[in-house]
Amino acid sequence: MSEDRMFMRRIAVIGSGYVGLTTGACLASLGHRVVCADVEKTKVARLSAGEVSIREPRLAELVAQGLAAGRLRFVIGASAAVPDAEVVFLCVPTPMGAGGAADLTAVESVVAEVRELLPAGCVVVNKSTVPVGTAARTAQLLARPDVAVVSNPEFLREGSAVEDFLKPDRIVVGCEAQDAAERVAALYSRLGAPTVLTDAASAEMVKYAANCFLAMKLSYVNAVAELCERLGADVLDVTEGIGYDRRIGQAFLQPGPGWGGSCLPKDTHAFLQVSAAAKFDFELLRASLDTNSRQQARMMDKVRDAVGGSLAGQRIGLLGLTFKAGTDDLRDSPALAVAALLAAEGADLIGYDPSVRAAVPGMTDDLQITDDPIKVASGAAALVVLTEWPEFRVLDWGLLAELVERRVVVDTRNLLDADVLRRVGFEVRGVGRRATPAVEPSAAIQAESSAVLSYDQSSQLPHARSTACRWRG
Ligand code: UGA
Repeated sequence: MSEDRMFMRRIAVIGSGYVGLTTGACLASLGHRVVCADVEKTKVARLSAGEVSIREPRLAELVAQGLAAGRLRFVIGASAAVPDAEVVFLCVPTPMGAGGAADLTAVESVVAEVRELLPAGCVVVNKSTVPVGTAARTAQLLARPDVAVVSNPEFLREGSAVEDFLKPDRIVVGCEAQDAAERVAALYSRLGAPTVLTDAASAEMVKYAANCFLAMKLSYVNAVAELCERLGADVLDVTEGIGYDRRIGQAFLQPGPGWGGSCLPKDTHAFLQVSAAAKFDFELLRASLDTNSRQQARMMDKVRDAVGGSLAGQRIGLLGLTFKAGTDDLRDSPALAVAALLAAEGADLIGYDPSVRAAVPGMTDDLQITDDPIKVASGAAALVVLTEWPEFRVLDWGLLAELVERRVVVDTRNLLDADVLRRVGFEVRGVGRRATPAVEPSAAIQAESSAVLSYDQSSQLPHARSTACRWRG
């Protein structure tokens, strides 16, 4: 048998959403034969035609390659995917249920649907983020002693999910039956990543412990940023200084309007629930959530201060609505949370985001969406950067300066080149930094044209620091 045939496994992926589709397409690209199932007929039809609606670099390309090579196909319903499978991945949603606990309805209904159809000796793998003990519960529900249940959490970030899958920092596989864990780990052997083989409960715990650590790291940095403002220090220099310590690292140290998205908030709440159920008061984690709410409120305070003390009736232009750049995901977006706080104080909001074309349910009704970033400036008493889209750095700030009522920007992501903005007359208020006052108009006019050209466009993100994006010269 060729090496490829020995490596190749027949895999079913149940749930063709964000995690399932990435998992299926990437496993197919590694050489496995993958059948992805979903309950939505139109989604299955579109995916079968190679149409990928999720905004994720390289995902459509891998789906097209998988379809063309015959290694990837899509079917309606879990029961159509499993009869021939050696490994069945569960990639169904586990949303936040009552009181913050993970809602396992989707996992349970798939288990009920497939339990009698699974081939003898196959392995069921839970990829969804589920409370510790779910693998054991799944095994109980399956009641199939010949089928092992393995936990293999995903660590994919939106916007770099394919890259994260194919170049993982680690693979974590947990099961009491070591041979089943090894079979799952072998699916990824071509990736050459460090692999942690453990029991199911520990693997389930890794996912929560990792996401909650990241959330705590961000709350810590946001708290440090607040202290920097009070003590006159610069958070960018502070985080650079601490980040060189290899035990801390430079990643995930950007202060912002608070952390959000479909994972960190859901998982911190769920981990708190898990802790409470185990009669453990996880104070540190609770404080991280409180700090996050405080950070959102602090951003509103900054805007209120910027417009002179009252938001009532003030037109505020918002730049960025998604929970981070590079995605169209608005779930639990801190930008929307800040918008809701501003609206509650009577602000009149207009927002632009490169990936959002219309209002969605859950958005405050007082927010008007525009498809033109220039329009957010018309008559605005303040502009507020809420998502770190690199293109905001190269807007025509000279033109925006002509349109606003008051030249002040609250930059909650420390994204903009304050030197450039101040030369066209803007005062810039960041997070964890001293405010940068505008330059006198005469000096501003002289410097305006060359300033716009001085953006360092290669530094796409605020943390890719260069002298061009430093506030201090
Ligand atoms: C997160 C984790 O990073 C992934 O490892 C994990 O697999 C995923 O959740 C999941 O559980 O599925 P994601 O939700 O895509 O990934 O987003 P992140 O890139 O982690 O960003 C989360 C939030 O933190 C965003 O609001 C982002 O703007 C904010 N953030 C991130 C900062 O404010 N500063 C930073 O330095 C980094």
